[in-house]
Amino acid sequence: MFRLISISVFLILFIAYSPVYPKSLGEKPHTDKSKLPRGCASCHRGHGRPNTPMLPERKDVFCFRCHGHSVNVERTIKRGDLSPNTKTDNIQAEFEKPYRHPIEKIGIHRFSETMPERDPSIPRHAECIDCHHHHYVTKENKMEGIKGVNREGVKVDGISFEYELCFKCHSYSANLPANQTNKAELFSISNPSYHPVEAPGKNNDVWSLSPPLTSLSLIKCTDCHNNDNPLGPKGPHGSAYRYILSKNFTETDGPEGPFQYELCYACHRRSGILSDESFQLHNLHISAEGTSCRTCHNPHGSTKYTHLIDLDTTSIRPSSSGRLEFMDLGNKAGQCFLTCHGKDHNPAVYPAVSPIPSLQPTRRR
Ligand code: HEC
Ligand code: HEC
Ligand code: HEC
Ligand code: HEC
Ligand code: HEC
Ligand code: HEC
Ligand code: HEC
Repeated sequence: MFRLISISVFLILFIAYSPVYPKSLGEKPHTDKSKLPRGCASCHRGHGRPNTPMLPERKDVFCFRCHGHSVNVERTIKRGDLSPNTKTDNIQAEFEKPYRHPIEKIGIHRFSETMPERDPSIPRHAECIDCHHHHYVTKENKMEGIKGVNREGVKVDGISFEYELCFKCHSYSANLPANQTNKAELFSISNPSYHPVEAPGKNNDVWSLSPPLTSLSLIKCTDCHNNDNPLGPKGPHGSAYRYILSKNFTETDGPEGPFQYELCYACHRRSGILSDESFQLHNLHISAEGTSCRTCHNPHGSTKYTHLIDLDTTSIRPSSSGRLEFMDLGNKAGQCFLTCHGKDHNPAVYPAVSPIPSLQPTRRR
């Protein structure tokens, strides 16, 4: 019954708005008749699949008619729904990779859903149309027409910064999986440190940055979460690497190498990190002890400490005196109270205290 009503409402809308819709849509790729020659009918059919607004296919595969493998695209061209020689990206191949957004979870997205989700019992989902508006998408702004959530956690009608898209599902969602954290909290500019996604970072002395990056630079979620193939279509669709990372990152402790922490080394000079330009004990920990960056740093931000220090990681326990704490003593100095792989730091201080303090070398770039 409900379906019948919604189909008739749709039909009315479709017939009534057909002449109006294109005008309000303007010159968008999906309304470009030189590419989609049959206009609305390139996508909508008189008898669509159940639970779709007259779409010929289930919503998880529908977009692959034009953004999929060449066999699918060829078929769409033969049917007359896409102009011959129109170049589209193969996004289907991205969603066949081992780590990807779960677009196959259809039937959960609701037309007027409120994000972040407030009901913890609602299953999680991420359809193409959660991130790209089926009618309004443009080449310049792939999030055109999509609602978002800003850094204060407030809903916004249009997305001005990419993270406002991600925060819809990765911040204050009541159904956030237990192994995930609230990214709006971690990136909050009131934290002692954060990667500069919302605003430039708090440290104006990040020696390792590769040009053109500086302490004033901003980065995006998709600078780290993206296609592992730099030549393939952009976007956090799928990757060969865990967490949909664009480059490899080994979270677990083990031998150091350019591939192990490839993601970090894309922006932070490996030579700078391993030659202890900032933290005097980087090389000892990373190369000699085989400690992953993740054991000490959070890739997103830290609500407690400066320098993205995160002691809430699997190998770290309180020190012999029961303390678990990092203290920034300023000017590349600090101390840690913790136990890591059986090594008690109660505290461990850096830079290591030189017998004659005046002979302590002053580090300059
Ligand atoms: C590129 C494919 C495509 C084209 C071209 C297209 N649509 Fe859609 N349309 C969709 C998809 C996908 C949905 C389903 C969105 C959802 O499930 O929320 C949809 C949904 C709709 C709806 C339901 C309400 C809404 O906006 O979500 C209406 C009405 C509609 N389309 C009308 C039109 C009209 C009129 C045209 C021509 C001007 C058109 N469409 C062109 C893909 C398309
Ligand atoms: C009938 C063919 C067709 C269908 C179906 C279709 N698209 Fe498109 N889409 C195109 C064409 C053609 C373009 C413009 C060419 C291009 O840049 O890829 C385009 C452009 C886009 C773009 C902008 C990419 C860019 O670089 O310009 C996005 C994002 C997009 N489509 C997403 C979707 C999503 C999501 C769906 C499913 C809801 C969908 N499309 C369904 C044909 C289609
Ligand atoms: C409509 C909801 C939605 C939006 C918007 C969204 N995601 Fe997701 N994302 C999900 C779901 C659902 C998963 C599957 C795991 C889960 O339930 O969180 C996921 C998984 C991920 C994962 C892998 C997590 C893991 O444990 O392997 C990453 C990384 C990710 N998303 C990043 C992003 C980024 C970056 C953006 C913004 C560009 C974004 N997401 C936007 C819903 C969303
Ligand atoms: C500097 C690189 C970097 C940036 C920028 C970044 N991430 Fe991540 N992200 C990572 C790494 C590395 C991991 C895996 C290690 C971990 O979970 O701590 C990860 C894990 C995740 C996960 C899965 C596990 C978890 O912690 O929840 C999600 C979801 C995620 N990121 C979303 C986002 C969103 C959303 C943004 C932007 C607001 C973002 N990331 C920005 C590097 C980054
Ligand atoms: C896309 C580029 C990019 C990637 C990838 C990246 N970073 Fe950064 N990182 C930056 C920028 C830019 C800053 C400077 C922020 C500032 O000035 O406070 C920074 C700063 C830092 C800081 C210093 C923060 C502070 O407040 O002292 C640490 C620690 C750090 N990054 C660790 C990492 C680790 C670990 C990885 C890999 C998981 C990584 N970064 C990957 C761009 C990146
Ligand atoms: C979790 C959010 C999310 C989902 C789900 C998602 N995309 Fe994207 N997509 C993005 C983002 C973010 C970009 C990159 C925008 C940028 O780099 O400007 C992108 C880029 C694209 C592009 C342009 C690629 C390029 O190189 O320019 C196309 C086409 C596209 N997406 C289609 C799809 C289709 C089809 C689906 C479903 C099968 C889909 N997307 C699912 C977030 C998403
Ligand atoms: C044993 C813990 C530990 C490990 C492991 C570690 N770091 Fe650090 N890192 C620190 C501390 C402590 C600081 C702050 C030094 C200071 O007081 O300025 C720091 C500072 C930094 C900075 C900011 C200063 C600079 O040099 O630009 C970056 C970037 C950084 N680390 C990246 C990394 C990367 C990448 C890895 C893995 C390859 C890594 N760290 C591994 C503890 C660690």
